[in-house]
Amino acid sequence: MTKMIAALLAGAATLAVTASAQAEADGEAVYNQACMACHMTGAAGAPIRGDEAAWAPRVEKGIDTLYTHAIEGFNAMPPKGGQMGLSDEEVKAAVDFMVEPVI
Ligand code: HEC
Repeated sequence: MTKMIAALLAGAATLAVTASAQAEADGEAVYNQACMACHMTGAAGAPIRGDEAAWAPRVEKGIDTLYTHAIEGFNAMPPKGGQMGLSDEEVKAAVDFMVEPVI
């Protein structure tokens, strides 16, 4: 019985690893690590993920403008969310993840 449970757990772990490996440049992970503190709470006026009214006028500027603002900073939005160790690609993936529910 114990063996069977262990086998089931191992199978579940393998599935979890496979699922996350399939996500590209992991925008969700970057968001959780570098952006959530402001973009989930609205701290300092940050647009909250999933808030259509807050994002509509921003999305209208075009995704490239949003990428640039996320990478270089925009008013109270710090460059790369203040995490200069992130690559541009990682920041772009996080932007994609952030606007995905509203576009
Ligand atoms: C310290 C808080 C803070 C963190 C951390 C942060 N942001 Fe922001 N972000 C803001 C604020 C505040 C604004 C609104 C700026 C404005 O419109 O004046 C903003 C705006 C934005 C915008 C919209 C820019 C535009 O042109 O309208 C994007 C895209 C964005 N952030 C992406 C990110 C990403 C991606 C991360 C993580 C890598 C991140 N932010 C981390 C505070 C933060």
